This record gives sequence, C-alpha cells and structure tokens, in this order.
Amino acid sequence: MKHQSYTIRPVLAEDIAFLWDMLYEAAAVDEHTRVIGKQSALAMPENRKYLMGWGQNGDAGVVAVAEDGRMMGAAWYRCFPVEAAGYGFIAPNVPELSIGVALEARGQGVGGTLLDALLAMAKQQGYRQISLSVDRKNPALQLYQRHGFRDAGMSAAGDSAVTMVAYL
Ligand SMILES: CC(C)(COP(=O)(O)OP(=O)(O)OC[C@H]1O[C@@H](n2cnc3c(N)ncnc32)[C@H](O)[C@@H]1OP(=O)(O)O)[C@@H](O)C(=O)NCCC(=O)NCCS
Repeated sequence: MKHQSYTIRPVLAEDIAFLWDMLYEAAAVDEHTRVIGKQSALAMPENRKYLMGWGQNGDAGVVAVAEDGRMMGAAWYRCFPVEAAGYGFIAPNVPELSIGVALEARGQGVGGTLLDALLAMAKQQGYRQISLSVDRKNPALQLYQRHGFRDAGMSAAGDSAVTMVAYL
C-alpha cells in the first residue's frame, strides 16, 4: 500500500472482523502462534479474550481507514478481572491495550497515530493508566516508549515480554 492519507475513527460493530485480523497480527509476533496459524491462535482463550463479546462496558477502540476505504490498523482496550488477567495485566481498573497495523501499511506512522488517539480516548473515559505487554525484542517497544509507556515493574528481567504502563 503506498502512503495514503487516512482518518482515525472509533471502532464500530462492523469493524470487529478486522479487529480479529489485527489481534492475530499482534499475537503472531510469537513464533509458536505463527506455526499454529490464525484459526488455532485466535481460538486460544488467552488470545480470544481480548475481543470475545466485543462491546462490553468499557471496551473502546479506534481504527485507521485509508482514503480508498481500506482498513489500515486498529488499537483498542479492555479491562480484565484478576481471575482472567491478560498478558499485560496491572489491575482490574487499568485497561490493557492491543494494537495491530496491516503489514502493507506499517512504518508510515499509522501505529503512532492510533496510539495517540486511543490514549486520548482512555483519558477522556476517566482512566488514569493504560497497560500493555510487549515482547522485549519487538521494535514496537520503542514506539510505546515514544508514546509515554514505561516498564511497569511487574516483569522479571528474564521474562521474554515486559508489561508497560502509561499514565494519562
Ligand atoms: C507495532 C505496530 C502496531 C506499529 O505500527 P506502525 O504503523 O508500523 O508504526 P509507526 O509507523 O507509527 O511507527 C513505526 C515504529 O513502530 C515500530 N515498529 C514495530 N514493528 C514495525 C514494523 N513491522 N514496521 C515498521 N515499524 C515497526 C518501530 O519502533 C518504528 O519505529 P522507528 O521508526 O523508530 O523504527 C505495527 O508494526 C504492527 O502491527 N506490528 C505487528 C504487530 C505487533 O507487534 N503489535 C504489537 C504487539 S505488543
């Protein structure tokens, strides 16, 4: 996809299939996830819970839509209870962020714009913090740092992923 202008808007019910695609993109950073493939990966409870039953109280997100109508990326958040904590869990009232940009649309600033829009949305919804989990080797870690995320101090140095938090 060549550089296109795009708009950012809140997630609508019709975007849900695209969000599942982007959830797979985010999960497929893990090699095992790529090996088992999309259908199996998205059926795993630890992945599925990021979108299953979308539209629950507190769920919110944004999508980037190109001029020609193609979906470029999505970022969203959801809160989890202690007993069903996500990978980047901090507390039940701290939403956890997920983000994915379509392969052909990466590296053009879409991810950063989505992050800014989602952080503004979370702040507007009254949240004070937002968290995420990222593989320490994922270059997305630097992107998160540039957008205000810091190591939340919850992960051991030997963990392959680190939980990060941004204060809103
Ligand atoms: C991470 C991701 C959402 C960033 O979106 P993006 O639109 O490419 O990001 P931007 O163009 O705004 O910013 C680029 C930055 O993202 C990071 N990045 C991560 N993966 C990247 C990729 N495949 N291509 C380009 N940049 C990438 C880099 O830090 C880059 O910063 P740099 O310019 O200093 O190199 C996107 O690359 C993606 O979907 N990756 C796969 C899924 C994933 O890793 N999700 C996060 C899991 S925690």
